[in-house]
This record gives sequence, C-alpha cells and structure tokens, in this order.
Amino acid sequence: MENLLNKIIDNNRHLIKNGALADYIPALLQANPNHMGICIMDIDGNVYKAGDYSEKFTIQSISKVMSLMQALIDNGEDYVFKKIDYEPTEEPFNTLFKLDFPHTIKPSNPMINSGAIVTTSLIKGEGEERFNRLLELIRRVAENPNISYNEEVYLSEKETGDKNRAMAYLMKSRGFIEGDVEDILDTYFKQCSIEVTTVDMAKIGLFIANRYRLSKEDKPICNAKIASILTAIMATCGMYNFSGEYAATVGIPSKSGVGGGILGTIPYKMGIGIFSPALDQYGNSIAGYGIMKDLSKELNLNIF
Ligand code: DON
Repeated sequence: MENLLNKIIDNNRHLIKNGALADYIPALLQANPNHMGICIMDIDGNVYKAGDYSEKFTIQSISKVMSLMQALIDNGEDYVFKKIDYEPTEEPFNTLFKLDFPHTIKPSNPMINSGAIVTTSLIKGEGEERFNRLLELIRRVAENPNISYNEEVYLSEKETGDKNRAMAYLMKSRGFIEGDVEDILDTYFKQCSIEVTTVDMAKIGLFIANRYRLSKEDKPICNAKIASILTAIMATCGMYNFSGEYAATVGIPSKSGVGGGILGTIPYKMGIGIFSPALDQYGNSIAGYGIMKDLSKELNLNIF
C-alpha cells in the first residue's frame, strides 16, 4: 500500500506547477509548494502514510465540517438549518452574491464562508469559550491533545479578512447572525488557523465514517444522524463550485481548505487526509484532487 501511495504522489507532482499558493492570506505564502502527503486510516485500524504526511498546515475551511458538527450538537438540525441552507452553489467560496437579495433568508450552505460564519455564531459560548470548545472537539476527535492554532496565520487572516468582515456585517444587518460580529469573526479566523497534519485529518475522516465513534471510547460523541448530514453536505458542497465534477470524478465525500488540505470520509470504511498547498482556481488543492482521483480509482472507493 505504501508503494502505491508513493506512486500516486509521484504521478501527481507535475500538477503543482499549474497551481498557486493562496496569497490573499499573506502568511499562507510561507508554505512549501512542493510538500505532498497522504494518510489513510481504515475501520479495521490499518494506517497507511506516504510523503510529507507529518507536515503541519492550517486546517482552513476543513474546520467548517467540525464547526457544523459542534453547532448541530449545540442546537439540533432543525434550528441550524433554519439559519443556513443545505444547497450547493455555483458561486465561489467567499461570495457575497445573493446575501443582500431581498428574498434571501439564509446562506446557501455551511461550507462557503458566509454559511460557516453563521455556523460559528451558533456554537454556544461567550468570547474565547466558543473557540475553545471547538478546539477541544477537534483535539478529542483527532486524538491529539497537542493540536493548536497558528498565531501568525490567525493575525494575517484578521488583518486581511475584510471580505469576510463585510459579509458578516451584512449578515448581521439582515438578521442572519446575532451577537458581536467581531467576536464571531475572531472565532472564525482562529478556527481556520488551527494546525493539523494529514494524520489528524485521516482520524477526523475515520471518526465521521465510523458514525462518531472514537477508537478509545465506546459511546459515539453524538448521534449518527449528524454524521450522515456532515457526509451529505461534504459530498454536495465540500469542494465548492467544483463539488459536482469532484463527485463525478472522485466520488468520495470531501472537504478542502486553502491551506492545501483535503479531508475525505468513506462511510463505514475509511478516513483520508491529503496535503499539497498549491491550489486550483476553485481554492482546492490542485495535486490533492489528482491524488484523490487516483486513490479512488486504484482502491475502488467511489461511493456513487
Ligand atoms: O476565510 C477564508 O477565506 C479562509 N480562512 C478559509 C477559506 C478556505 O479554506 C476555502 N477553501 N478551499
């Protein structure tokens, strides 16, 4: 298996030159574009790793899966989906389009920035507590108490995040979010700056695949219905306005982040973490997509 993973990495290395590091968050430009890593964990306890699997990178939008989970735990499905919709969108992840349309009553889905800012606002807690509860959940699920956030990336996001800020204030004025906007944004910027490795991501993917059971704990953290919601939202919205083609060509419910990570989850089967920081036009890892496509084909993982 490790040989296969190394071969897949090598076969996709040439794609890096067609992509670019995210530059709208200046601190992300420090990443090494040549890094490529994979970790796979299956339900039988097998772990396979290759390349730069232990390299740290910021979780970015992949955190939206975990903030949705925390919001669902805190509020239940009915309440959360009164505030955000379930629907994919053909707009890019950072769009403000439609948020001010007179008939719009909520953002399209929890994977684009506007929906994720709403999700974060629904996590219970005052000030720092909101972020700390989310961080604790991620540490517990990844079974890694050392996970923390990167201060430099957080400050860089905060300093340059005017589009997210504009979106959040617009949503407050339209009644889509309640509470202190800067407080909510602070949690959102921090959650995006959480540092993980492909191993942490494979664990999170396996945890969702395993219907919220952790290897060391008997009882699921929450009910299986939430895992099916998360998986469905990842499959339909996780790769933004590329989600349809991704579903057709890869067929693995996934979530990407502009740090270069892709998290994959295959129900009752496995979790996958991939890292390669050069991005395509949609903000998805360009070589990461190639790797997922090859993995899906070689291991027959397409769930559709
Ligand atoms: O808010 C942002 O734009 C970033 N912190 C996260 C965006 C992101 O990861 C989109 N992903 N592919």
